[in-house]
Amino acid sequence: MLLCRHGLSGPDFGRNAIMAKSIKILGICGSHRTEQNSYYALRRCLEGISTLGIPVETELVDISRMKIEDCKGCHVCFLRSGQGSFCPVIHDDMDAVYPKMIEADGIIVSSPVHWWSSTSKLRRFIDRCNTFCGSGNTEYAGAMYNKAGGIITVAYDIHGGTEVAATHLATWMLTLNMAVVGTQTAHIAGTAATNLGVPTAGPDSVKFDYHGMKTVYEVGRRVAETAYLLKYGRESLRDLQAVHPEPAVRGVKIDWKKFYQYENSFPKEHYGVEGQLATSENAFNIFIDEMTHRKKSEGNTWGVLGNIDQFKEDWLVKRGLKLLSDDEIYSLCPEYYDFFLAR
Ligand SMILES: Cc1cc2nc3c(=O)[nH]c(=O)nc-3n(C[C@H](O)[C@H](O)[C@H](O)COP(=O)(O)O)c2cc1C
Repeated sequence: MLLCRHGLSGPDFGRNAIMAKSIKILGICGSHRTEQNSYYALRRCLEGISTLGIPVETELVDISRMKIEDCKGCHVCFLRSGQGSFCPVIHDDMDAVYPKMIEADGIIVSSPVHWWSSTSKLRRFIDRCNTFCGSGNTEYAGAMYNKAGGIITVAYDIHGGTEVAATHLATWMLTLNMAVVGTQTAHIAGTAATNLGVPTAGPDSVKFDYHGMKTVYEVGRRVAETAYLLKYGRESLRDLQAVHPEPAVRGVKIDWKKFYQYENSFPKEHYGVEGQLATSENAFNIFIDEMTHRKKSEGNTWGVLGNIDQFKEDWLVKRGLKLLSDDEIYSLCPEYYDFFLAR
């Protein structure tokens, strides 16, 4: 529009091409109560997003009526999720939400404040998102990486814990490697209260908290803008990285002794070789052997490993790792060999 006003539009100055680029924003409402204040705030937030001029599709998922079971902590989703199944152990209403999260470019979570935290139902929802944790070994591990994240918390009292509740939700998103937005008004989230007007007990009493609702709209704007920038910036970045692969660390003097000071003997430290990550084949096999035989009580978070060969292959492919013999490692980096392998 600005271009047109200044008579610079030409054919359309690429606006059609820009308009073809759209984003999806998913709103998740964590209240136990259906369509109450946290829902109202989220709905208005999503409506606000659609007025920004950014081509956007929004969807609101209300978990109040959803059946969500507790995560059992078995970590099977770290190993065996895939082919449309995110949690291979429990099948409930979460099955329908996972794909929406994958498709979304930005996610906004809205929660009532329950004892200075988010609701227990939302906590259950969050636990069931373990399949997206970057430590897993499936195609879904790290799937929230670089999605924009925003938070809305609604309390009864203006000093009732909105920021504390929002902090936890932000750390959840950060742990999933999402880009969490703040607001211009020094709030860490959209934070609002329901007791600022009359009637205080209504399903939309939060609308009387004008300042709070302003922060709610701001979160929407920031998530939409950030999602757009990340989505289309990421595509350009991928093109750039394809031309310039990560430089190898070969030739760089590394103080391995210092580096491994606090490390155990697992091969989680990888050595860069000719632009590729590599690790010791021997150390890798020791690691797999140990994980195969470890009991849960001894810290095995992986559960029972099924097909070991497949597991090894997936592990290496996912991390882009190449296995090297001790001789190869020695010729590349004697310090690594001396300290890490030959002790
Ligand atoms: C179990 C429980 C705990 C709550 N804890 C707090 C609290 O710590 N601080 C606060 O200001 N309000 C608290 N509230 C009030 C809710 O945050 C408030 O009613 C909110 O608007 C509920 O959101 P909803 O209308 O979307 O369900 C609590 C409510 C419940 C049911």
